[in-house]
Amino acid sequence: MPSSLFTVSNFSSVNQVINKAYRTPFKHWDEFSWIRSKPMQQDSISGLPFSPELVPLASHQAIATDPNRWMTVLAYRLLAHLQFTTLLELNHVNPVCSALAQGKAPISLTTEQKNDALRIYCDEGGHALFVENLSKKVKETFNLDHSVIGQPQFERTLDRLILENQTRISPNLIKLFFVSISETLVTKVLKDVPSDPRVAPVVRDVINDHAVDESLHSVYFRHLFPILWHHLSPDEQEKIGQLLPQLVWAFLTPDRQYEYNLLRHLGFNKEEAKAILEEVYLPQEVAAEVKQAAKPTLKMFESSDVFSMLSIQQAFADYELL
Ligand SMILES: [Fe+2]
Ligand SMILES: [Fe+2]
Repeated sequence: MPSSLFTVSNFSSVNQVINKAYRTPFKHWDEFSWIRSKPMQQDSISGLPFSPELVPLASHQAIATDPNRWMTVLAYRLLAHLQFTTLLELNHVNPVCSALAQGKAPISLTTEQKNDALRIYCDEGGHALFVENLSKKVKETFNLDHSVIGQPQFERTLDRLILENQTRISPNLIKLFFVSISETLVTKVLKDVPSDPRVAPVVRDVINDHAVDESLHSVYFRHLFPILWHHLSPDEQEKIGQLLPQLVWAFLTPDRQYEYNLLRHLGFNKEEAKAILEEVYLPQEVAAEVKQAAKPTLKMFESSDVFSMLSIQQAFADYELL
């Protein structure tokens, strides 16, 4: 991600001052991060693979009334979450952290901030490793077919947004903002699964190890976001601002393509699969859930003055995030 690919305005003295106020969240990284202090979880999966309440599809009558199907749907949900994590870390978060660590960001970072980006890079590599380890176990335990998962929704949407805007906005700038958003969204999965006593301890422990590290990443990107935003020219803010609500949706919306594939894999025909998904995902409910899950990030946008431009406000309203 060479710096020349970013389209940004000049450094401002205000940004330099804000940046000097940086306080590292990684003071105790050596003692608490998974990669520096914890072993790989080796246990087998004994218990539920996932919290049923976090899998809307599992509550549909066609699934809930068949214990085998129900368990398989939960197991695929775990595998989908793990594969989502691997791709997010390796293909998206780490290329951005690598650029930040090498001083190729569009803003000037202190040595401490660059080294903290490198710490996040190490964390994410560790996450991909423990997630792959657990993926292998869940596939073996429940006899899952990896091809059912496919490319995750967030990656398909991100690729499309980059392609649609390639003549207007630098792809690397879009990727930087996507990562800044995704790193500040702590999902319900990371929050709820570790404390669900029905879920297999190895799954809860892996997701908890991930959540602990991510809570620090979120602090880092919360500090970075307003600096990045105020560094853009008004024209760049307007263009990126139109994309922000779509990036939030890309990360939080249910992956219906994967769930359609899963239903077909479970033996439902095309019409049945589509009908089940329509019953499970009511548009108003999905929009309300995305807005709820996005709350901390929407607050970050607000305190960064993202909504001061009317056209950006409108874009968020169009995506039911205001
Ligand atoms: Fe991570
Ligand atoms: Fe992270």
